[in-house]
Amino acid sequence: MSRGDTGGGPRATAELWQVAVATLDGNWEHDHTVPSRTLYPHQWSWDSAFIAIGWAHVRPERAWRELESLFRAQWADGRVPHIVFNPALRGAAYFPGPEFWNSSIADGAPDAATSGLVQPPVHALAAWRAYRRFPSDAARAALGRLYPRLVAQQRYLATCRDVGGGGLACLVHPWESGLDNSPAWDAPLAAVPADAAVMRAYRRQDTARVDAAHRPTDLDYARYLAIVASYRDGRYRDEALAGRHPFLVECPLVNAARGVAEHALASIAEVVGADPGPHRERAARITAALVRRLYDPATGTFQPRDLRTDRLIPARTVLGLAPLILPDLPRRQAGTVVVEACSARFGLARRMHRPLPSHDRTAPDFEPLRYWRGPSWMNINWLLRQGLLSHGRPELAEGLRNSMIELVARAGCHEYFHPDTGAGLGSPAFGWTAALLLDVLAD
Ligand code: SER
Repeated sequence: MSRGDTGGGPRATAELWQVAVATLDGNWEHDHTVPSRTLYPHQWSWDSAFIAIGWAHVRPERAWRELESLFRAQWADGRVPHIVFNPALRGAAYFPGPEFWNSSIADGAPDAATSGLVQPPVHALAAWRAYRRFPSDAARAALGRLYPRLVAQQRYLATCRDVGGGGLACLVHPWESGLDNSPAWDAPLAAVPADAAVMRAYRRQDTARVDAAHRPTDLDYARYLAIVASYRDGRYRDEALAGRHPFLVECPLVNAARGVAEHALASIAEVVGADPGPHRERAARITAALVRRLYDPATGTFQPRDLRTDRLIPARTVLGLAPLILPDLPRRQAGTVVVEACSARFGLARRMHRPLPSHDRTAPDFEPLRYWRGPSWMNINWLLRQGLLSHGRPELAEGLRNSMIELVARAGCHEYFHPDTGAGLGSPAFGWTAALLLDVLAD
């Protein structure tokens, strides 16, 4: 049982706060926070950003150490790897481990062993929120050190990854979206030749630690490994991906996070004495590109684009709502995305029972237990709440906030939750659930 498990009803705010802080303290590892001691024992990129938002409320110096340790593993081309491996752990702690990634074959990889993929760039937003929470001299100095690294992270996505040439970053692996096995990726993944039987040659650690029914399937993993192998065997180079790489998609979440990052960088630039103008211009260009390339007027929501077919992917997952986090999303798109969020597919309301699921509840492939194919996640709901606040929907944001607090109060700081019963799923004592609970409690 995790520290966060209550086995009972909702608890008082002070007790919940303590549970969340104890969860973060338990996952702290010398200069970063592991997402989970059991399932994810290294440092993960977007986890560290969300976790820094939580640390900012209780131990602000850890927020800066968290972000700075991650960016020490930034590659020379600007990419921030989605996993930074802890050299003190045995290879069997996580699969696929550092030997599989073999990052040292790439030009410009850091000394640390890392993956070669990225994750949604929510770090500038995290740094800005951490600074705003406690704008000390130490925080200003850390912000100054991070600024050029955050700019390089954005430059990598805007240049090396603009495979489609339309101003959006392209993902080369479902893991880069953060929503690994989302139904959004089923169609492009189906074109990746793989056989679940190859997994007999490996030992998955995740399904040895949590219920296999909560995790991606072996066939998903066979495809994940095939895509990594293709990228790795090209030494993680991004040139000519269009002709040779098996998975190329433009994701609404990653690109919306890029836009939000430019808004945050404009604010950070003002503090560190840089020019905010270029960040504002880039933010506007990213928003325009998202609307042009991924908005589907027929559904009123955003859909990923498969660059191998140049078609929008029709699955209506929570990824389609993500552009609401852009403060400059035009009123028309913001309005239709809120209508989609309030539909029976996602259930957003002033008085809502549970936070939004990760996939359309009415779809035949909705799976309430399996990772990103139905369960509710704190980070996605936290992002959507920011979007509702910035688009003038405080009553809906409040409904969402209450449902998030009640969910964790009842089930503990789990990784994700059954979207109907609220039961905790995946790993207990999960870092970003604790961190973002602190943030919504403090708000
Ligand atoms: N989310 C992946 C996992 O499940 C890694 O990024 O291991």
